[in-house]
Amino acid sequence: MFRRFYPSEMKESTYSIDFDTLYDAGYRNVIFDIDNTLVKHGAPQTEESQKLLKGLMDKGFGVLFLSNNKEPRVKMFNDPVGAQYIYKAGKPAVKGYLKAVEMLGGTVENTLFVGDQLFTDVWGANNAGMHTILVKPIDKHEEIQIVLKRILEKPILASYRRYMKKKAQFGLIGNPVGHSKSPLIHNTFAELRGDNLEYNLYQLEESELKGALSKFRKLGVKGLNVTIPYKEKVIPFLCGVSETASKIGAVNTLKLTGKGYYGTNTDIIGIKRTFKVKDISVKGKQGIVLGAGGAAKAAAYALYAEGASKVLVINRTFEKAQSLCLSLNQAFETNVFEAYPLSGSPAIEQGSVCIQTTSLGLKGEEALITDDSFYERLSAAIETVPMKTTDFLDRCKAAGIKWSNGFSMLLYQAVEAYEIWNNCALTAEQIDVVRRKLENE
Ligand code: ATR
Repeated sequence: MFRRFYPSEMKESTYSIDFDTLYDAGYRNVIFDIDNTLVKHGAPQTEESQKLLKGLMDKGFGVLFLSNNKEPRVKMFNDPVGAQYIYKAGKPAVKGYLKAVEMLGGTVENTLFVGDQLFTDVWGANNAGMHTILVKPIDKHEEIQIVLKRILEKPILASYRRYMKKKAQFGLIGNPVGHSKSPLIHNTFAELRGDNLEYNLYQLEESELKGALSKFRKLGVKGLNVTIPYKEKVIPFLCGVSETASKIGAVNTLKLTGKGYYGTNTDIIGIKRTFKVKDISVKGKQGIVLGAGGAAKAAAYALYAEGASKVLVINRTFEKAQSLCLSLNQAFETNVFEAYPLSGSPAIEQGSVCIQTTSLGLKGEEALITDDSFYERLSAAIETVPMKTTDFLDRCKAAGIKWSNGFSMLLYQAVEAYEIWNNCALTAEQIDVVRRKLENE
């Protein structure tokens, strides 16, 4: 009943908000209430508020003050920092919030709202569709009409606190994780389905892995994704692993059970669904995997499972390709997997299907193979680096073959993880909303 008043999150103070992480999560604009959010009612800028606001603008955030107060008050507050402002904003009416987003040149999805009042600040920002952060008022001594509002806020805040306690926790472990699009994907699915959950990023050192998993278990974190470089290293700390994940020796999805975390590999499904959606046929063709890390294992297995005649694994470090092929050949009692070094790569059969799993491209690097004749021999290629395009993809496009960028695999592995964690089936429409968000980021 009170849901429309619930903030996305609640903090002790504006000054305890971790804006760096929010920036990493894709937010680019912050709309602030002023009075009792940044400074005491009617007060000028303080050293603390100026430091915060200038820091945000230096980092690249657009900043705007949205106040129901009159212009002299709002202008006086804005002058020392030179942000933007709207006075007599008419909060909680949505109009002012949308005008603010327009002035900032942003979108409601990449804009945060920070304020101290539920019935004006948060309610309006929620209706506008923004991520809302409620902070405790700076000054406890308020005017009588605000004191009355605070009395009305009390039962809502109590209900919000009970709701938050029940909020299911999920997240991603890896290093680095700052660039990850997984929170965007999972939190959007949750919003679309009305699921009460939140997905966070956890950057861990290898030495922290075991301890972190036992802490997550104690806290009741229901599910975790695993990314570079822990897809293999996390396995010893799990209570069990699915048969396929165990055979390929890599997991990317953990589900909390009574005994601990159970690991599966939804990267495989991410690749298989990409084949289907892009109408890529592998059966009887030569499969090629570039790279020999955790993602390469899932890629090599997916090609094999789809009926590739051979799977060539090409890697800068030949020994890693060799050990990957040896373990897959043994696990599946086959000799389909063949390892090759970068120099002296094998003859590529016409019509081969290639999956690119190295991290090359994440920072704009050149593809692992730069010989045009390689790409001309392919019929289709899948990139796993989650970028709109990479040098590898540009070469595929130039060769006129079928291609898929890394968003597809990222999206479908997340769909599968979300469905496993929440025992549900996402609809094509829900998946499409997230796909568009990823493509337009
Ligand atoms: P993941 O588990 O996600 O696959 P990973 O285990 O770190 O990540 O694997 C990264 C892959 O990218 C490896 O195949 C790596 O090659 P090496 O085995 O030789 O290290 C490859 N890779 C990363 N940087 C590279 C570079 N500059 N040139 C060539 N290959 C690179």
